[in-house]
Parts: sequence; C-alpha cells; structure tokens
Amino acid sequence: MDRHERAGSPLDLNGAQVYPEYLDPAAQAALVAALRDVVAQAPLFSPETRRGKKMSVAMTSAGRYGWYSDRSRGYRYERQHPEGGAWPPIPDQVLGIWRAVAPGARDPDCCLVNVYREGAKMGLHQDRDEADFTQPVVSVSLGDEALFRIGGTERGGRTQSAWLRSGDVLVMGGDARLAYHGVDRIKFGTSTLLKGGGRINLTLRVVD
Ligand code: SIN
Ligand code: MN
Repeated sequence: MDRHERAGSPLDLNGAQVYPEYLDPAAQAALVAALRDVVAQAPLFSPETRRGKKMSVAMTSAGRYGWYSDRSRGYRYERQHPEGGAWPPIPDQVLGIWRAVAPGARDPDCCLVNVYREGAKMGLHQDRDEADFTQPVVSVSLGDEALFRIGGTERGGRTQSAWLRSGDVLVMGGDARLAYHGVDRIKFGTSTLLKGGGRINLTLRVVD
C-alpha cells in the first residue's frame, strides 16, 4: 500500500466490503494515466451480450486474460484482444490495491476496464466465468458516481444499493463472491477526474 491509499474499516454492503475513498485524488489521477496506456495498447470495444444485444459499456482488459462476449459464444475469457495481440500487463498500482484488500488471494489474471459514458449501465449479473470462486472479485471506481446494486446468489432476491464514488474499492468475496450485482445508473458530471465525464470501473479477477 502506498501513501495515497487508505484502508480504513470497510462498510458492509450485503456481504461485500466497500472501502470509501480508498484512493486519494493523486492516486486516482495516476491510475487514470496508467489506464490510458492500457487503452492505447488494447482499444476499447463494446461487446454483445449472449442474447446479441450490444452492451452500453465500452471495455478492454489487462492481464493474462481479457473478458469477452459475443452472440455466438457468450461470456468468456480470451487470451487475445479481439483485434489480435496479447492484453497489456495489469498496472502495478492495480496489483497493489488487490494485494492490500485481498491478502492471501492469488494475484488476478484479469483487470477488466469498463467505461461508462452518459446513459451507460450494467444489468444485474453474477461474475461466474472464472474457475475458482474461493478467490474474490475486487472492483475500483473512478470518475462519476454510480448507483451500484447488490443482492444475494439468487436472481430476484432482495437487493441493497449504494453510490460508488471515485476512489472507492469494493471486494466481493466469501458468501458475496457470487452475488448478483449491477449498475443502475451513473450520475453524469459528478466528478472532474475524467475529461469529458463518465466513469471507469476496474474489475479484478482470478480466472483459472
Ligand atoms: C461489473 O460488474 O462488471 C461492473 C460493476 C461496476 O461497474 O461497478
Ligand atoms: Mn460483474
């Protein structure tokens, strides 16, 4: 953990842990700069859901694997970007966050970079394309505030919502590893971190 990171006691959100303002503004800006390099090497794309609908979120990945989806083969991890070539490495500061909030976990194989522009959202889903559900999911929020919703492991169960703000880190592990979750909306223009507004979410996962 470096001096820009603050790991106070986390808040409980339906079994997940939220570390509010885990990254201070300088650490957030440094992370955005590192992500610009990732996007320069692995351009953003908007995949199709397995039902063939284009997702409103643009994405790319860093790490040994990238997350991908299309109508013909559905949700999965790929070793290569859809335009060819390996995914860039996960930035060191991202690995630092993972190791600090998920001590004892294996290092992540994938850092999914989700970019929410105005109007983008993400429907309720489980993260279940990975092999080992004993390993947590860690997510980092940057930019505009997002209304995040999390339920239990059954679709249609009771859910709880919270605004995730720039610099917040969320950990879904243990009983919350397979919780349904999604983003109902972005409060566009609530942060000045990203030029032009919007939100970036990083989702870190062990894949194999
Ligand atoms: C996701 O579950 O893939 C993204 C969650 C978020 O954007 O906070
Ligand atoms: Mn997810």
